[in-house]
Amino acid sequence: MKEHDVIVIGAGGAGLRAAIAAQEAGADTAIVSKLHPVRSHTGAAEGGINAALRDADDWEDHAYDTMKGSDYLGDAPAIETLCKESPEEVIQLEHWGMAFSRDDDGQVSQRPFGGLSFPRTTYAGAETGHQLLHTMYEQAVKRGIQVYDEWYVNRLAVSDEPDPADRTCHGAVAYDIKSGEVEGFKARDGVILATGGLGQAFDHTTNAVANTGDGVAMAYRAGVPIEDMEFIQFHPTTLPSTGVLISEGVRGEGGILYNDEGERFLYEHGYANNDGELASRDVVSRAELTEVQEGRGIEDEYVNLDMRHLGDERILDRLENILHLAEDFEGVDGLEEPMPVKPGQHYAMGGIETNEFGETCVNGLYAAGECACASVHGANRLGGNALPELIVFGKMAGRHAAGEDFGEAQIDTGRRGEWEPGEVSPPVSPGAIDSPDDPALADGGAVAAGKDILRGAVKEERQRVKHLLETDSAVGHAEIRDSVQQTMTEFVNVFREEDGLHSALEEIRAARERYSNVTVSDPSRTFNTDLIHTIETRNLLDIAEAITLSGLARDEFRGAHWRAKHQERKDNEWLKHTLLSWDDGQPTLWFRPTVLEGENRSYEPKSRSY
Ligand code: FUM
Repeated sequence: MKEHDVIVIGAGGAGLRAAIAAQEAGADTAIVSKLHPVRSHTGAAEGGINAALRDADDWEDHAYDTMKGSDYLGDAPAIETLCKESPEEVIQLEHWGMAFSRDDDGQVSQRPFGGLSFPRTTYAGAETGHQLLHTMYEQAVKRGIQVYDEWYVNRLAVSDEPDPADRTCHGAVAYDIKSGEVEGFKARDGVILATGGLGQAFDHTTNAVANTGDGVAMAYRAGVPIEDMEFIQFHPTTLPSTGVLISEGVRGEGGILYNDEGERFLYEHGYANNDGELASRDVVSRAELTEVQEGRGIEDEYVNLDMRHLGDERILDRLENILHLAEDFEGVDGLEEPMPVKPGQHYAMGGIETNEFGETCVNGLYAAGECACASVHGANRLGGNALPELIVFGKMAGRHAAGEDFGEAQIDTGRRGEWEPGEVSPPVSPGAIDSPDDPALADGGAVAAGKDILRGAVKEERQRVKHLLETDSAVGHAEIRDSVQQTMTEFVNVFREEDGLHSALEEIRAARERYSNVTVSDPSRTFNTDLIHTIETRNLLDIAEAITLSGLARDEFRGAHWRAKHQERKDNEWLKHTLLSWDDGQPTLWFRPTVLEGENRSYEPKSRSY
């Protein structure tokens, strides 16, 4: 068994920043990650980091833009924390040597991004995440932080008191991908989940194949509520054949979107008369798909993004990476021709419920970055707000887990008697997935208090792996994963209809049933990707169901959540977060009011136009 004060799970931007902060606060800290840190998906982030750095800018304007972008579903204390702390974090990165793009006078450059009232997105060409990841990994190495890379954490070791708020997280269980051993990682002070996104629940996504929502699913099964899962961001500019991201930085620099008739449709068809291509992402994605549905798409599938007018010099200086992506993945030369683009799954606004310090309701368990929901993004994230989220909340979670006292949080976590109950409709019959007799399906949730919790979790996980390796059937993970991804892309996409959401739920439940017979055909213990993908697929099933159930519950149109028969934002009814808790193997739905009271102001919901 390994033992440290703080265990960070995941080695992308949030995980590295959390580990650096915890170590600096005096904790013996280790990172456990299924990937080597520099292979983390943060490295694929392109466009930039929002921070109010200039004299003419103000964190309060950044906060207002973020709240408006969230369609008034963000929690003000989290938004204000993000916007206040982001400039200091960017300066910290610069001092650590991050290779930001610079203006002629030497200042770090900033560019416009969607939904921002000031050009406050700092960047490093169109490879900001890559530079950020390498800069922070260097700092982690410099501090001697131990990294267990290629260890796949598949379970938390959490006690099983009836109320999750009374539970404690004692560590995690991980599978050594190199040797096949299952080991316990004891955390004396805290476990921080920083496992990133869940894009593999969809089949057209900018996310890496490793983004399988592991942290969200593990926390959910350990009793932590998951919040606002219905809000999935579809980025407007992904390459049609692969989902590879073409950065919003292209539009930030002046790139233009055209339909098949050569119209600049965002203006000419009135989708965003003020900001055009730089409206927020939910608006632009819907506009593109409407063009396609109304017959003005190209090849009935996509629109064109043209940057040629920017000139070769500017493109090569600020967007060179985009040229390589368009050429390598679509065979298009962005200097000579427009690039085909369409919306693709990009980001999950929801995730593990935390307060503004990264704490969950379970003692000793934290979450930061995309897997977490501190309620910064609400119903729609602004481009350029993900990277500051990683570093700001990574830092907070790391310091808190290491024992720093931040006082009382303003955002509540955990279910309380006063929160409004919801109804899961139709009710869930969890089916074979939760059979306690079948270790392949064990829900990986809380294990009995009073026994040695971590040892118990390790034992159960060893049985589960053995069972998966020994089961003989014809059902492989790939067929199940594929059907979940296609279902989600067909029915739980940019445009959502009630019947479609019900069909998705049925398909997901059928896939759960098939998973009860899943088999791993590779019997080896060394680099067994078949086994890893099989375990990940279980997580995707829970994630897909949670997104769909939450989407069905929210019968209004807010931010990225569009409902065919509910075409208005219903502030009287829906200024509240959707929460799902995994109680005795069944999802329970409930709601918590949105916190719109900030430090010095209240954010009154207004109609949102760009
Ligand atoms: O378009 C982009 O470069 C992505 C940025 C983001 O998601 O924040």
